[in-house]
Parts: sequence; C-alpha cells; structure tokens
Amino acid sequence: MFKRSDPLDQERTFGRDEIIVSKTDLKGRMTYVNRVFCKVAGFTEMELIGKPHNIIRHPDMPGGAFKLLWERIQAGHEIFAYVKNLCKDGCYYWVLAHVTPTFDGQGNIVGYHSNRRVPAPEAVAAASALYQKTLEVERRFANPKKAAEAGLQFLAQQVENSGFSCYDEFVFSIINQRRAA
Ligand SMILES: Cc1cc2nc3c(=O)[nH]c(=O)nc-3n(C[C@H](O)[C@H](O)[C@H](O)COP(=O)(O)O)c2cc1C
Repeated sequence: MFKRSDPLDQERTFGRDEIIVSKTDLKGRMTYVNRVFCKVAGFTEMELIGKPHNIIRHPDMPGGAFKLLWERIQAGHEIFAYVKNLCKDGCYYWVLAHVTPTFDGQGNIVGYHSNRRVPAPEAVAAASALYQKTLEVERRFANPKKAAEAGLQFLAQQVENSGFSCYDEFVFSIINQRRAA
C-alpha cells in the first residue's frame, strides 16, 4: 500500500489539449484510468485500479458537491462540475469534470465515466469561493451524511441566489463568459 502525503498549498496543472479520464463500477471503484490521470495525480495505474475514487478527494471539497454528483448520475443524468483533487504527493489540481452513466443494451446503468479538462481561472476562483462557504456550513455537522445534505442544500441556494436555476447553469455561465470575452 502506498502512502499519500498531506495536502500542500501547491497547484499542479495540465495541458489544454489533455483530458483526464477514468471509468468506475457502480460503487465508484476505478476500472480504467488513462495516462494523463496517472501523470497528473501521480499514481501508477496499479495503485488506482480497483480503488474507490475518493482516493483523490481533497479536504477542500464539500460533501454536498459529491452528493449532487451521485444523485445525478445514479438517476441516469450527466453532470458538469468543478472539482479540486488531491495528488499522491499532496499537490492539488482543479478540473472541469463531465461525469456520465454508462448503460447496457437494456438501459441499465453498468458504470460511470468521467472526462476532465483544465478549468478557466475565473471558474476556479468562483468554485473555490462557493465550496469554501459550503464547507463552513458542513463543518457545523458531526455526521458526514447530514453535513453533505446541508451542504447540497446550501450549494443549491447559493447558485439560485446568484440567479442560476441549477448548478450546471453556474458551471456554464463561466464557460460562456469566457467565450464571449
Ligand atoms: C466516474 C466518477 C468520477 C469521480 N471522480 C472524482 C474525482 O475526480 N475526485 C473526487 O474526489 N471524487 C470523484 N468521484 C466521487 C467519489 O466517488 C466520491 O463520492 C468523492 O470522492 C467523495 O468521497 P466520499 O463519497 O467518500 O465522501 C467520482 C465518482 C465517479 C462515479
């Protein structure tokens, strides 16, 4: 078993032409990781395959964001989300993730798939501020499940207060702002 370092305040980036890819089973255990994923996160393929995806969870990420992710994909929908991830050496990297369910011929969900690109700096600033406020709410709860529920509620409220109908609209507003600039 490898040892992962404590989080460092040191960012790692990757190329605009690179895509970080992973596939998981229904429980979120990795069944496929691409070369870019291994390079950026600093793990070998062997260290990742069969492991739960929370192996790269960063403590700055609120549970509410992942609750939203799982609710969406388990209901058969896609989600676009900004995520801060933890590398093996303690560095962090931000991604804009597109997570989708994979269906069999009968329409059953048989796994999940995530493609990630480099997010715009404005997106990282907005997501980082939103997640920090969400974490502050979640820290009031000792029970992680209750914390994630409260976090998701707060996240949805914040997004709505900013004039967006849902989290995805918040994600795309930043992408579209950048395109228009
Ligand atoms: C396809 C897929 C990709 C995921 N990618 C990430 C990821 O990049 N980073 C992450 O922290 N969690 C990711 N997750 C969510 C994790 O499974 C997990 O819910 C999250 O890390 C929170 O950990 P926890 O459920 O133990 O609280 C992904 C899940 C799926 C199904």
